[in-house]
Amino acid sequence: MCGIVGYVGDQPALEVVMQGLRRLEYRGYDSAGVAVLSPDGQLVRERKAGKLANLDKLVSATPMPGTLAIGHTRWATHGAPTDANAHPHLDCTNEVAVVHNGTIENYEVLVDGLERRGHVRRSETDTEVVAHLVEERFSAGPTAGDLPATVRSICRDLEGSFVLVISHRSEPDLVVAARRNLPLVVGLGEGENFVGSDVTAFIAHTRRARAVDQDQVVEVRRGGVRITDLDGVEVAGESYHVDWDTAAAEKGGYDFFMLKEIDEQPQAVRDTLGGRLREDGLLHLDELSMSDEDVRGIEQVFIVACGSSYHSGLLGKYAIERWCRLPVQVEMASEFRYRDPVLGRNTLVIAISQSGETADTLEAVRHARGQKAWVLAVTNTLGSTISRESDAALYTRAGPEVAVASTKAVIAQITAMYVVGLYLAQVRGTRDADEVRSHMRDLSELPDLIAEVLTRMEPVRALARELKDSPRVLFLGRHVGYPIALEGALKLKELAYVSAEGFPAGEIKHGPIALIEPGTPVVVIAPRHALQAKLINNVQEVRARGARTIVIATDGDDSVTPYADVVLRIPDTKSLLTPLLTILPLQVLSAEFARALGLDVDQPRNLAKSVTVE
Ligand code: M6R
Repeated sequence: MCGIVGYVGDQPALEVVMQGLRRLEYRGYDSAGVAVLSPDGQLVRERKAGKLANLDKLVSATPMPGTLAIGHTRWATHGAPTDANAHPHLDCTNEVAVVHNGTIENYEVLVDGLERRGHVRRSETDTEVVAHLVEERFSAGPTAGDLPATVRSICRDLEGSFVLVISHRSEPDLVVAARRNLPLVVGLGEGENFVGSDVTAFIAHTRRARAVDQDQVVEVRRGGVRITDLDGVEVAGESYHVDWDTAAAEKGGYDFFMLKEIDEQPQAVRDTLGGRLREDGLLHLDELSMSDEDVRGIEQVFIVACGSSYHSGLLGKYAIERWCRLPVQVEMASEFRYRDPVLGRNTLVIAISQSGETADTLEAVRHARGQKAWVLAVTNTLGSTISRESDAALYTRAGPEVAVASTKAVIAQITAMYVVGLYLAQVRGTRDADEVRSHMRDLSELPDLIAEVLTRMEPVRALARELKDSPRVLFLGRHVGYPIALEGALKLKELAYVSAEGFPAGEIKHGPIALIEPGTPVVVIAPRHALQAKLINNVQEVRARGARTIVIATDGDDSVTPYADVVLRIPDTKSLLTPLLTILPLQVLSAEFARALGLDVDQPRNLAKSVTVE
């Protein structure tokens, strides 16, 4: 939540930072701001409530020359999304500018002290305390005149999570950044350097990046970057190459990122499977970093995740239980550790997170590791906090996902969970080699099937436009169709602000069927599989009460058509793999529904892409 950028180099810094903010806007879009160090040594700040476009308008009317700048796009935590609460925040003397991602939990105590010492607070944010603390400690005391030392000393006094990026008007060649718990990446250029919440902030300028660890402070100068711990000791670290380019972070002719990302799903699945097959058709999964003996010793599996990633986890449970005969529990990460789950050395915990930064999932990882469980992160983000704090990381290879509503990352997660399930089955011997090979062959066919389904979306779009005024939509599924029903409902809620719920179809008689009124749209995920006969009964039950039934069915299967007002078709595949196809019309339905309502498909209200607060 919140996107931050810092730049020092020889280019017009405002443009570099605004470009970075455009790429980071998915992280929060309540307000945005920049501060540029002008050639005459003044910190010139502009900020505006609302989306980045508002700031864009403002800065294009204001000349802001300078080659050092910091910027911020906000998801409000402390203080409403107003101009006054927008970052950057300045100190009393306008010599210090600070942008911040995170929450400073002890800010009230710090504010009390600052106010007693005569500082005047001009916003309701927790962030502003940092500007005043820099003002004090840079002007007097043991860290006077030394900005990195000042920031290190302040970090020691802060509680909570933060990424801070700070500039001081007396330091024309220095931006200082610090991180605890939240993401910060350094971009390494020639004669210019960058910091950002993720690599998209600077990908247009450099593809060489360096990760920053917990409680480290980064000194960014034109000539180089130095990273120290909070004692000022320089830490060694390797840079890495970002292997996707700017095109991956741009709309490429689509009206919305989400529509582009939906179409990128065949590739996301292909890339996630890629390189994980041995020549003999079996799997290798070195990323798990477990010996075969340890894999055989696993006694239980927990999957922890939030939102759509949780739905991928539910599908992982079906796969692992079926193929490995291991007990699997799937937990919402926000509940996991408070329940005090029983974990131990023979527990495998799989943490699924697209961003790799979700606060609840990260805390679940820390809890699990504290209980000696082996933690595998399944994430889309190289070098993310969750991947770094887990015992092992398996990367989905969906590429950067910008739309707040997750699509290609989810399909890549489901694929990755199936790969994990098959690998565990292979090593534990619960499925023989031929069966593992055969499942992998089926999985390898999915990218083409996904591409085919995506060519059939016109009727789904038309349906969405027709349904757009429905106040409520229900989604029903059984077995692996159930997590997809949950996912369809979540997508519709977050994008179209429509009341939508997903249920196991067998449960509706126990209450939810009371929601059905004449014309209520009910989407039923009913591909051909063992439970279809029962599902058909459920379709009949809701139809008898006036529901408008929209059924996702397998090509050539007419058993459901007598009870369906609308049939959406998918090609045949193995039952366990159907989610990779049935999810597609639901993504398109929600995107088009939102579009028909005139809503912003990529940036739904009140949300942010990565939820880095608990
Ligand atoms: O980055 P993560 O996968 O940890 O994010 C988890 C959820 O916040 C995320 O899936 C969210 O539910 C999406 N907006 C759903 O589209």
